[in-house]
Amino acid sequence: MEYQNVKGTHDIILKEARYYQAIESLFISLAEIYGYNEFRTPIIEPTELFSRSKNDSSDMVRKQMYTFKDLADRSITLRPEGTASVARAIVNNKLHAEQDFPIKAYYLGPVFRYERPKAGTYRQFLQFGIENIGVDSEYADVETIILSYRALKMLGFQKLKLKINTLGDSESRENYKKALVKYFTPLIDKMCPDCQERLKLNPLRILDCKVPEDHELTKKAPRIKDYLTLSAAERFKKTTELLDEVGIPYEVDDTIVRGLDYYSHIVYEYEYISQSGLNVGALGGGGHYDNLVSEVGGPKLAGVGFAFGIERIYSLLKEEKLLPNLHAGFDFYVMPVGEACIKRAYIVADYLRMLGYKADAIIEKKSFKAMFRKAEKHEARFSVIIGENELKNNEVIIKNMDTQEQKTVKNTELKDYCDSLFNDHECHCHDEDCECHHKK
Ligand code: HAM
Repeated sequence: MEYQNVKGTHDIILKEARYYQAIESLFISLAEIYGYNEFRTPIIEPTELFSRSKNDSSDMVRKQMYTFKDLADRSITLRPEGTASVARAIVNNKLHAEQDFPIKAYYLGPVFRYERPKAGTYRQFLQFGIENIGVDSEYADVETIILSYRALKMLGFQKLKLKINTLGDSESRENYKKALVKYFTPLIDKMCPDCQERLKLNPLRILDCKVPEDHELTKKAPRIKDYLTLSAAERFKKTTELLDEVGIPYEVDDTIVRGLDYYSHIVYEYEYISQSGLNVGALGGGGHYDNLVSEVGGPKLAGVGFAFGIERIYSLLKEEKLLPNLHAGFDFYVMPVGEACIKRAYIVADYLRMLGYKADAIIEKKSFKAMFRKAEKHEARFSVIIGENELKNNEVIIKNMDTQEQKTVKNTELKDYCDSLFNDHECHCHDEDCECHHKK
């Protein structure tokens, strides 16, 4: 009997898994550089952590959660996002008691949403996210944008679209919601059943409706910018000025409301449409929140963060042929020419590994042609050829698999030569303005 994987899930294996690892480690290393610490929280959480309010209006909480009763009749939910779990972990572990703010957390792992599977949309998918909690400032807000923007650039995305909006403070939103109710009430009978419910629960959600006829009606709806309190408007102005200052291009889009209920002030999303027109939905998104930590039992602490869907990033990098930048193959592939050279090849490969290079050696007798085919298949950057001459003279031939250039190198000079090959490597951002000085 052959079993199929559950609808909306997928296997990430072999080369694909290597690319996922490369994407994930780029996010992780950048988060570490910015001072974030890993939070590994459970995949199962009490349902109430996510459905904190009876009036939650997000599709994620209302329609998409994998919720079940465990054997002790507790309601358990497979986490549909990481932010609430990080807030809970901070409160449960009393991290706030140390008063050492901001608390900077990053996380990576599977999340679950019962959505209709389509390109870039899964029921189990991977999120990488960060949360910066405890300092209520546009500097913290913008730091999360800088980090996410730089990560996407380093991955190779060029024509990124960063859309930002403000949802203001609670007073701004209350006034805005009243204006939306006034605007939509005479139109609501023509709108989809979801919007009819949204009008009662949270009229902001109507702006997110994907039904084309409803979308038309939202175009003339009131805009949040006309309902911001003075201080909320001032904060948004400071936020955009800071983005200008650090040189991050953005577009203010006042239809961005985000799919979750906890946001206030800045919200943002990254869009990327491939040259062939592939649009997998937002690559990532985030924003500021004021009440989440107190809603899960902690003190009133503001936070800000984002999450990216790793599948979406992978599929767009693949579509744009940017994956080779995340080299998943061998640095060196060592080839013994003739049986007598196998032992030396084996030892040289191990030496290269000790130097930190990804290397392998062929350890069975093979023709030259077969060895090169293998090196190409495994995407080796350099082949290291050891024939009887090299064995006798204590040297190896190193061949660049791209340019076919080759050089004979003494065993005693192998380390310096390899290091010189890799230090010369160009930055893998492929971005003319890149200042990351990333070296492979
Ligand atoms: P979100 O916008 O719901 O935000 O999800 C973040 C990202 O997860 C999306 O931009 C998308 O890349 C990916 N994603 C969402 N649903 C799916 C799906 N069904 N299949 C594949 N990828 C998906 C959050 O989750 C917030 N917790 C982000 C945040 C952190 N806000 C503040 N801090």
